Amino acid sequence: MNKIVRHAWTAGHSAELYGVNEWGADFFSVSDQGDVTVQANIGANTTSSSLLEIVEEVRQRGIDSPVLVRFDNILAEQISRLNNAFARAIEENDYRGKYRGVFPIKVNQQCHVIEEITRVGAQFGHGLEAGSKPELIIALAHLNTRDAHIVCNGYKDEEFIDLGLHACKMGYRVIFVIETPSELPIILERSRELDIKPIIGVRVKLASMVGGHWNATSGDRSIFGLSIAQLISVVDKLRAESMLDCLQLLHYHLGSQIPNIRDIRSGVVEACQVYVDLVREGATMGLLDLGGGLAVDYDGSKTNFIHSRNYNLNEYCTDIVDVIMSTLDPQKIPHPTIITESGRATVAYSSVLIFNVLDVATFEPSHVPEKIEDDEHSLIHNLKDLVNAANVRNLQECYNDALFYRDEIRELFKRGQVNLRSRSLAENLFLKIMQQISQIAEDSPQKFEEVTQLREQLSDIYYCNFSVFQSLPDVWAINQIFPIMPIHRLNEKPQRQAIIADITCDCDGKIDRFTDIRNTRKMLPLHQLKDNEEYYIGAFLVGAYQETLGDLHNLFGDTNVVSVNLTEGGFEFVHEIEGDSISNVLSYVEYDPQTLQNRFRKIAEQAVREKRISAADRLKVMNAFSASLRGYTYYER
Ligand SMILES: Cc1ncc(COP(=O)(O)O)c(C=O)c1O
Repeated sequence: MNKIVRHAWTAGHSAELYGVNEWGADFFSVSDQGDVTVQANIGANTTSSSLLEIVEEVRQRGIDSPVLVRFDNILAEQISRLNNAFARAIEENDYRGKYRGVFPIKVNQQCHVIEEITRVGAQFGHGLEAGSKPELIIALAHLNTRDAHIVCNGYKDEEFIDLGLHACKMGYRVIFVIETPSELPIILERSRELDIKPIIGVRVKLASMVGGHWNATSGDRSIFGLSIAQLISVVDKLRAESMLDCLQLLHYHLGSQIPNIRDIRSGVVEACQVYVDLVREGATMGLLDLGGGLAVDYDGSKTNFIHSRNYNLNEYCTDIVDVIMSTLDPQKIPHPTIITESGRATVAYSSVLIFNVLDVATFEPSHVPEKIEDDEHSLIHNLKDLVNAANVRNLQECYNDALFYRDEIRELFKRGQVNLRSRSLAENLFLKIMQQISQIAEDSPQKFEEVTQLREQLSDIYYCNFSVFQSLPDVWAINQIFPIMPIHRLNEKPQRQAIIADITCDCDGKIDRFTDIRNTRKMLPLHQLKDNEEYYIGAFLVGAYQETLGDLHNLFGDTNVVSVNLTEGGFEFVHEIEGDSISNVLSYVEYDPQTLQNRFRKIAEQAVREKRISAADRLKVMNAFSASLRGYTYYER
């Protein structure tokens, strides 16, 4: 007989629940088979692969979770989308300048990422932003086109400037952006000494302020950039040195992740006025660098919430072009080359961190007996009477009573008047009552404030094989939220509500805020674990800032990384980096693994001498010690 299943859970329900079609930017979705898929355009066709299949292939190669999967196609697509969107805005508005983006290396310095960005970026003249000497070295070794710029921000010493000047002579377009007045004399002195004309930019502090987490980057008190008074003094110095022709670029950066398009517009308006006056002062100009700030819609809400943005890429480009034209055209000033330093929006989508769940803690009663022995404490009997007693009308009262009895029993336990077994019984009864109250509250249209919090307190803890501090440092440091969801079993309804705990021994090593279209949510719907089957969770959009900001808390090192290229027939692995071994992380904190091994060998030999272990045991223990040194820092099955 055919069973009629009403409202069967489908992959579509999961897609809606986790909002993947909202934040996935056409890169991620859910297949009918219930897996998260990753998509890319190859020519006129779209190809799609299951993330689970990728992880399984990775595992067959002996690469364990956690693993960071980078998608080269997504990186390439993001560079193209940005450049094409500006090209479209320029063409549609008859803008008479060009767009030349630069990728800020600090947002993801990993070699393979920079190689891919510069490979794809070459056709667009997409350059790099360097904020330090190592970053300048990366830029010089990767950009082999005269069409792309290298924008040098940050503090620059003589060595930095000399290298940049030599590169200018070779034909690189290296621009020294003056961040503080003290930098100018060094640039002038070194360029005289080497007889190489510099290209100079100025970074200015705008009065315009932005919303979002990084609003301290904007306004008078921002750390970087020249005040308007300092800017004028730089102009005067350059004029006095007859070097105003070297001043070609105006730069500002209002902060990363600007959620509101109004703030972006207002920054460009103010910057354009500064630009106009620099031209009037006699500077050559020609380059207007708007910094970063193009936001990522992490929750898919398309709002001006700090983790979202209320504009799309086309609106961003069109607004910038429009503001520049409407400010410069009345002054008859030629349209500058537009530079943006988009980092986050360029690389965020291209990396997914995938980790397995090791264990689950539930807050459910383990055992509630049918009958309570007569000699149990009266408070325990009171608690038992509350089981099955709650209904919509007495919900709050039941809740208060249960809490009172439970706390009284805890007090009696502290005074030695209730034993451990009775306390365990009381805790189980209490959890049973809370479970029932929570269920009634969920089904009731009425709101019960405390009971809502109760659901959070009863949520599961999923212990997952990764370190927040190493792989998602912004979750811990700045309360960043990333889309997180299981990558498979999505045609099953997730029955559990959980928070995520990592495997560091730190109470901050957890994730308890998740993306949601309407608000952030405090619990993530997850599936019950199955015996002998891994359960994989993905943290998405983690390609920006997370990799190098991560730290070695508890000595959990870099995760394994694989770079994947989606092809017409599926996918191929193009690059893999083994995560840190235990030996690696020990050496980062100045232990010499060989010395550790020698020390331990002596201790083992002493144990043999004292007949605590045999010589054969010593061999086994020494083998285990060396195998551990070679092992992965994360939990290995
Ligand atoms: C000077 C500068 N440019 C560019 C960026 C990159 O910003 P985003 O990642 O928001 O594009 C930053 C980061 O805050 C920055 O400080």
